[in-house]
Amino acid sequence: MRENRFLKACRGEEVDTTPVWLMRQAGRYLPQYMEIRRRTTFLGLCKTPELAAEVTVQPVDYLGVDAAILFSDILIPLEAMGMRLEFAPDEGPVFPEPIRSAQDVDRLEPFDPTERTPFTLEAIRLTVRALDGKVPLIGFAGAPFTLAAYMVEGRGSKSWMQLKRLMAQERGLAHALFDKLADTISDYLAAQVEAGCRALQIFDSWGGELDAEDFRRWSLPYLQRIVSDLKSQHPHVPVIYFGTCMSHLLDLLPETGADVIGLDWRIDLGEARKRLGPEVAVQGNLDPAALFLSKQEISARVQKILERNAGRPGHIFNLGHGVYPLTDPEHARHLVAEVHRLGARG
Ligand code: CP3
Repeated sequence: MRENRFLKACRGEEVDTTPVWLMRQAGRYLPQYMEIRRRTTFLGLCKTPELAAEVTVQPVDYLGVDAAILFSDILIPLEAMGMRLEFAPDEGPVFPEPIRSAQDVDRLEPFDPTERTPFTLEAIRLTVRALDGKVPLIGFAGAPFTLAAYMVEGRGSKSWMQLKRLMAQERGLAHALFDKLADTISDYLAAQVEAGCRALQIFDSWGGELDAEDFRRWSLPYLQRIVSDLKSQHPHVPVIYFGTCMSHLLDLLPETGADVIGLDWRIDLGEARKRLGPEVAVQGNLDPAALFLSKQEISARVQKILERNAGRPGHIFNLGHGVYPLTDPEHARHLVAEVHRLGARG
């Protein structure tokens, strides 16, 4: 498994060809996912280990990717901390009782993953067995800022006004919330490694909402704590940090301690590598909407990104965000094959 090209690229080592996997590679664009999804709710699927393992493995065979990612959601551990979570059809996640006061933060319970999220750990064990050493399994969690955004707002938002008000007017309370989240998330990620995950990704989908000064104050210390906790327990497990709209923060991101920085499609990969420096690997960064183009155009887009990387080690190909539900699965498969063909070292 140490010879897997995805893990090697995470460590910045030379590979035979560019490794590739896709965020949301298990999901609604795949008919085989929809077939299983129709049997239960989204949360039901996340909490049924046999089904979660099955949908995790589906895209590995079909797409030919170099890594699997656990089928679950970043909001699952928040439910385990005591928050009521609902997925309203066509609306996305909703917390009907959002965090607004000191009592709300006090009520959040740090938890033992073996007790509160045994289904996640069992799904990992079943998936690892089903993958049979073919490719490594990536575990994941949300970053404190992105999780807090949903917890305080109660639902998705464009401005995350409630969290930002809390950060401005109730600093101690906001720090107490981020503190609790950082501790919970590092325990949750460590438990995923102990169950069999070989790499971890921290999703900070809304992390780019902060300017550099606020990112340094409100995000970086908690990310550093999570990564250093993990590194002290599992030094060989690579950590990927992914966020969107982070061009203005690139110079700070190596300070997270992550091995790999995930890039969205808005930034040029060559430029990003220059600003990130030689110590970190990069993951990305094709626009997920590029999969709506013709196969020929997709190949050209792949070629362009590989050229921007210029053959440097430490590049994992991915989309700049998750696969869109309207994607033709054939095009996703074409993308993976083309990354392997065009990325082959001569
Ligand atoms: O990448 C993968 O294939 C692994 C599984 C995974 C899901 N969500 C499955 C999912 C992962 C890693 C996530 C992370 C996640 N969840 C993030 C961070 C990444 C990102 O997309 O920015 C966020 C912000 C969430 C919260 C969340 N979950 C939202 C906002 C939604 C609704 C939007 C949507 O796409 O429906 C979800 C639901 C969700 N999570 C689905 C899937 C496959 C769709 C649910 C369904 O089948 O009905």
